[in-house]
Amino acid sequence: MAGKAIQCYFSSRHYGIAFWGCLVQVIAVVQNKGGVGKTTLTRVLAEYFSRKGRRVLAIDLDAQCNLSRRFLEMEYDQADPDGVLPPLHPLFQEGDDGGWSGRSSSADVYFQGEVYPYPTRIEGLEVLPGHGPRLRQVELVRVGDVREQVHNRLYEFLVLAEVRDAYDLALIDTAPAKGPLTISAMRAATHAIIPTTLEPQPIEGLFGMLQLWRQEMHSRDTSRPPLKIAAIQPNLFRKGVALHEGLLDSLRKDTAVASLLSPVILHQRIAFAESDHAQARPKSVFDLAEKDPARLEAIAMCEYVARSLSEGGAGL
Ligand SMILES: Nc1ncnc2c1ncn2[C@@H]1O[C@H](COP(=O)(O)OP(=O)(O)OP(=O)(O)O)[C@@H](O)[C@H]1O
Ligand SMILES: [Mg+2]
Repeated sequence: MAGKAIQCYFSSRHYGIAFWGCLVQVIAVVQNKGGVGKTTLTRVLAEYFSRKGRRVLAIDLDAQCNLSRRFLEMEYDQADPDGVLPPLHPLFQEGDDGGWSGRSSSADVYFQGEVYPYPTRIEGLEVLPGHGPRLRQVELVRVGDVREQVHNRLYEFLVLAEVRDAYDLALIDTAPAKGPLTISAMRAATHAIIPTTLEPQPIEGLFGMLQLWRQEMHSRDTSRPPLKIAAIQPNLFRKGVALHEGLLDSLRKDTAVASLLSPVILHQRIAFAESDHAQARPKSVFDLAEKDPARLEAIAMCEYVARSLSEGGAGL
């Protein structure tokens, strides 16, 4: 692995230097229904923006660690069937006496640890991987402590001077849930993307996420800029399927959705699924043939998001 890892040590005494209004743009990809393309979109956007020369930090908040697996050789805890762990960090040296386990993950942000993002094969892209057991532990924080220990924590991390110096953009992949970690992603974000498939349950999920967005706007510190929706992104669309065409049409007519809806429709295309595979060749949809429809759709989607970021996207 090439590139440098950055140590972002933080503790409550550092919070004083964090100022409101984070300079790093932060995109949270959220939708509590599973399988709609959160991880796929996060990965494609991370590749796109880093290829465009932006310094990107991809953060995996999902205990399934699917995003992390795309960029790192994750390891598996034999004692825990769902235990996906980050690999040893390239900076770690056996015998380090600092008490560091050698693995760094997004969960460390919530446990107030040291955070060492990992370099990836893509220049300009670093990843803060998930850690299955520890992220599940974060979700178990007591109700009375959740605001202080979870909801605000990722925001406090992303406004640290070290993070603002090292990155231009953070992209956060979330679990199919509306729990504390998803709320912390919305709290940290400057922009949200809500992918949806054109089926009844994901559409219900979309409206649930819009509700969560409004709640976030009401509980967010008023000195911060509002959370913008960069795109409601239709995905896995199949032309000629009446259900998909009918639901897309109704979203276009819905006054709460229409102005936030991406004009780019991502169709169900085998190239997106194939590029998700660890052994994929090419590894990125951007390396497909110039006229490949999946590549063209991915570029159109990323360009639309880039425009939403520069224009600010839609606020409340
Ligand atoms: N446009 C597409 N065409 C074909 N396959 C796709 C497309 N988008 C996503 N997929 C595939 O669909 C599956 C689900 O996508 P993905 O994992 O991105 O969803 P998710 O919302 O992150 O799921 P989860 O909620 O479980 O985290 C994956 O196998 C992915 O490769
Ligand atoms: Mg996912």
